[in-house]
Amino acid sequence: MLPPTAPHPDDAPSRGLFLALEGGDGAGKSTQGRLLRDWFRERGREVVMTHEPGGSALGTQIRQLLLHGDHVAPRAEALLFAADRAHHVETVIRPALHRGDVVITDRYLDSSVAYQGAGRDLDADEVRSLSLWAVQGLVPDLTIVLDISPELGRARRGAVHDRLEAEPDGFHARVRARFLALAAATLSATSWWTRPRTPTRSTTRSWPGSRPWWG
Ligand SMILES: Nc1ncnc2c1ncn2[C@@H]1O[C@H](COP(=O)(O)OP(=O)(O)OP(=O)(O)O)[C@@H](O)[C@H]1O
Ligand SMILES: [Mg+2]
Repeated sequence: MLPPTAPHPDDAPSRGLFLALEGGDGAGKSTQGRLLRDWFRERGREVVMTHEPGGSALGTQIRQLLLHGDHVAPRAEALLFAADRAHHVETVIRPALHRGDVVITDRYLDSSVAYQGAGRDLDADEVRSLSLWAVQGLVPDLTIVLDISPELGRARRGAVHDRLEAEPDGFHARVRARFLALAAATLSATSWWTRPRTPTRSTTRSWPGSRPWWG
């Protein structure tokens, strides 16, 4: 495992607000991210809405390799996600937080722990440690995990699937279980966990149209 790195000098307590939306494919991260962005903007905050992989120019190329290329060996996959995150944090997220902006990222470190650490046969602690090294320890102020079953996620995505989305339901079930475990482990500290009892009914009933989940 990689040793811990010293904190980045930009991470002063007065920085902006860093929020991450996590969850399986089709869970509603982009939808809720847009609503959250609008909510903050209506209240006069500068908001940077971004995503992983691919939240930077270099990241767009890495995204292409990760999601739309041929087979990627699991360790190469973990390293490419970490490389994307390192560049994203250095060039987009940290500068925005330094300005005092609200940063909303659609996926961050927990996605690596869930997809590479549980979906693939890699050690989750090593995957987390790799990403923490890549970002010099920057973690969100709040991580929101949106829960969805593999079946409903697949139905929502329709016919188009990227390389990871195309993995079988067993892969997505392991990813889901890890997200829920991560949320449960940190629930009292920093995470809010939305877990519809019956996802189809609950999501359509609780969040009709464009209402945010927290409204
Ligand atoms: N609460 C909801 N109830 C029903 N449908 C929803 C809900 N939220 C989002 N959707 C729909 O589900 C689909 C996936 O939503 P969205 O793109 O926000 O998910 P995502 O988590 O960003 O997916 P991906 O991982 O593929 O980027 C969209 O068609 C969206 O309109
Ligand atoms: Mg999305």
